[in-house]
Amino acid sequence: MNMRTRVGIIGAGPAGLMLSLLLSMEGIDSIVLENRDREGIESTIRAGVLEQGTVDLMTEIGLGERMKREGSVHHGIELRFDGEGHRIPLSELTNGRAITVYPQHEVIKDFIAARLNQGGPILFNVEDVQVSNISSSQPSLRFVHEHEQMELQCDFIAGCDGFHGISRASIPEAIQHGFSRSYPFGWLGILMQAPPSAEELIYTYHERGFALVSTRSPDLQRMYIQCDPQDDIANWSDPMIVEELQLRLATTNNWQLLVGPIIQKSILAMRSFVIEPMQYVRLFLAGDAAHIVPPTGAKGLNLAVADVRHLARALTMFYKQNRTDLLEAYSTTCLRRVWRAEHFSWWMTSMLHRFLDDDAFQQRMQRSQLDYTVSSRAAATSLAENYVGLPFTW
Ligand code: APR
Ligand code: PHB
Repeated sequence: MNMRTRVGIIGAGPAGLMLSLLLSMEGIDSIVLENRDREGIESTIRAGVLEQGTVDLMTEIGLGERMKREGSVHHGIELRFDGEGHRIPLSELTNGRAITVYPQHEVIKDFIAARLNQGGPILFNVEDVQVSNISSSQPSLRFVHEHEQMELQCDFIAGCDGFHGISRASIPEAIQHGFSRSYPFGWLGILMQAPPSAEELIYTYHERGFALVSTRSPDLQRMYIQCDPQDDIANWSDPMIVEELQLRLATTNNWQLLVGPIIQKSILAMRSFVIEPMQYVRLFLAGDAAHIVPPTGAKGLNLAVADVRHLARALTMFYKQNRTDLLEAYSTTCLRRVWRAEHFSWWMTSMLHRFLDDDAFQQRMQRSQLDYTVSSRAAATSLAENYVGLPFTW
């Protein structure tokens, strides 16, 4: 069967769904193709920190209501090392900007509901998506849906299919430049049924490794500990995880971690990756399809949203004013913010983790950086403005 749309979108993650919502507000039709089922994408546990700009955009397009009700606004974070906590007052240092903790799968639920409400097609469980005629002005997407071979003719294709998707590989290798860094550690992430141990997120540097205390709801907590990325989660019993958290988070004033049953645990690898350019003829990459950051700076979802905001604006200018300049500038525009977030995430990661091959000199460097960050208003402001997110115009 043949279909037609203006913008064919591969992937119903935050990037693809937000793009379809923004385009629809401008009267531009799109179709989203997703290879998993709705239940699967609505329940996958991911990060949960929204920058001020992401929150503002969601509010502007009428998707702020549940986030405001169920999410929690944080005006600071704690950096903890040598058994002492140091608050970085995010809002005080950034003219009142803040972050909102609202899990990515809740964002996804809100986006899907809103898009289906607009009557916009999202095809779930599609198989074997392939980009065709990529070098022409009428590219198309071929895929299988409900056992039928389909072809979707498009004016533009948005590759929003995450790091393991197919769209990045559709760009000829000769014009792709990939930049990457892998880290010699991963994060063991858990969900624990317990009340919050602290009002704000705690990022901890400890000789046994990094630990992070985040939250999900008044009775569900999200925590992470640095671990060997090759380790098998089966090697980590629940009491071992709790003990490790307690050791790494211990303070001189006897701070207590509130504990409860662990209901989910897994190990994630950490990497940094960017592809340049993020565009080839009429294929535009956005979100994790084009770049990956380690989770330490909580930037992944926010970068995906910033990309598609630029892409939606560029497509709107194309359809409404016949302008191609913003489309031509898409990659350059996005990459400026992408590299800023890459640096910030790498910097936070480098400052807060134990690198096994670090010598004593390197460890003194880390400690000095931590000390400076929590003691100097200028250094703390730099962390804060990156953490709450630079303005959209950056
Ligand atoms: N065909 C169709 N859909 C695909 C394909 C494919 N070949 N490959 C992947 N997908 C889908 C995935 O199932 C997923 O739902 O594309 C979607 C990509 O979503 P994300 O991986 O969430 O990527 P993105 O929208 O860029 O959002 C980035 O998500 O991975 C987190 O931490 C990351 O917060 C960041 C954010
Ligand atoms: C999370 O809540 O999952 C989270 C919070 C902060 C991070 C990463 C993940 O830096």
